Formats: sequence, C-alpha cells, structure tokens
Amino acid sequence: MVIAVDGPAAAGKGTLARRLAESLGLPYLDTGLLYRAVGRRLLDQGADPADPVRAEAAARALRPEDLRRADLRGPAADHAASAVAALPAVRAALLDWQRDFGRAHGAVLDGRDIGTVVFPEAPVKLFVTASDEERARRRWLELRGRGVAAELAEVLAELRARDARDAGRAAAPMRPAGDALLLDTTALDAEAAFAAAWSLVRGKLGRDREDLRGKE
Ligand code: CDP
Ligand code: CDP
Repeated sequence: MVIAVDGPAAAGKGTLARRLAESLGLPYLDTGLLYRAVGRRLLDQGADPADPVRAEAAARALRPEDLRRADLRGPAADHAASAVAALPAVRAALLDWQRDFGRAHGAVLDGRDIGTVVFPEAPVKLFVTASDEERARRRWLELRGRGVAAELAEVLAELRARDARDAGRAAAPMRPAGDALLLDTTALDAEAAFAAAWSLVRGKLGRDREDLRGKE
C-alpha cells in the first residue's frame, strides 16, 4: 500500500506522513530530501542549481547517504532544491528511486507530485495545506529553534516564491491529484492534524479493514 502526501512548504506533510507510516507499519520517504541533496551538491560545486547538465549528473550520482547530510535545510538549500526540481531530467532521474522505494514494501511518501506523477494509482492521497502566514510562522519557529535568526516577513516571502515556482513549473507542478483528500492544518496542531488524517485514511480504505484495526 502506498500513501501519497503532497502539499506546499511547511504545511505539515513530513510530520503527518511520518506519523501515518508509524501507525501503519510502513516505511517513510521524504522525497524533498532527494531534491535537497541534488541542490546541495550543486552548491558545493559552486555551480548554478538551474544548470541542467550538472544537475542531472548530480541526480544520477545520488547515494542514500547523501540524504543524511546535516546541511539540507535552510534558505539556500530550499532555493537550490526548488531550482533543480524544475528540471525534467532531474525529476526523471529520481523517479525510479521513489517508485522502487514505494513498491518494495509499500510506503508513505511526501512531496509535491507523489499523487499526480510518482504514484498516481495510490489508494490514498492527501493534499495538506495551511495558510501562508501559518506555514511561514512554522518555518520561522523551526529556524529559530536551530539558532538561525530570520525575519518572519522574509521567511513568508521566500516560502511564497518557492510555492509559486513549484506550482508554476511545467514538469510535475505541485497540485492536488483529482482524487486527493484535502486537509487544511491552519488551525490544527500536529496531533489534531494526525487525527483528522487518520479518519480520512480510514474512510478511504474502509473502516473494517483488518490491518487498520487497533492501530490508533
Ligand atoms: O514537511 P512540511 O515542510 O510540509 O512540514 P513539517 O516539516 O511536517 O512541519 C513544519 C513545522 O510545523 C514543524 O516544526 C512541525 O512541528 C510544525 N507543525 C505544526 O506546527 N502543526 C502541524 N499541524 C504540523 C506541523
Ligand atoms: O519541507 P518543505 O515542504 O519546505 O520542502 P521539501 O518537501 O523538502 O521540498 C523541497 C523542494 O523540493 C520543494 O520546494 C520542491 O521544489 C522540491 N520537491 C519536488 O519538486 N517534488 C517532490 N516530490 C518533493 C520536493
């Protein structure tokens, strides 16, 4: 079973997807890390992350340990990730990785195009959103927690610019799949968001499925 969790930056996708994976006993893949690791490699090389030749080479050379680098978060990494993510050759190079991961044992994957491109046949697709201001506040709090001083207004502007790039690109733009369940987490903390998602998942898969019983 594959569960697709998509949505814009800092909507709470990862927090929710990780929790769903634990509850269902499925592996979890944060697909944003793939794009972040490729973007990071280009930054290391002093190259432009929008350089299609170098970015494709970096995507093809990606190794699992690259996803564990400590420097994949923060404004520079955010920007580089969304620049390489607009390149069709990079997306193509990362597609098999994501599909192999999901097909091996089932999985919960979060990203932008899981329900539309990577696993369009997934039985459950969630599209998680929250207001721009709330998402910026969450990201700003995260930065502060890591000791990074940032202006809330600047975080909001960068988040909006990245969402616009992700939704506006030609290759696998961010958008809800036609059969995605929408979950607005603006007024929900992580616990309440999980409870709401869990009830959507159960509703979609059928309340009496053996494998969902007793997992709450
Ligand atoms: O994966 P994505 O960028 O969509 O978001 P996340 O990393 O799951 O969540 C971003 C931040 O918001 C984290 O610090 C979460 O703890 C927090 N969060 C929240 O405040 N309320 C939620 N309903 C979900 C996440
Ligand atoms: O955590 P946050 O939502 O801020 O970002 P992320 O999920 O780590 O993704 C970083 C960037 O990778 C996004 O802004 C997208 O440009 C790209 N991405 C994508 O294009 N497709 C995916 N399935 C996942 C991420």
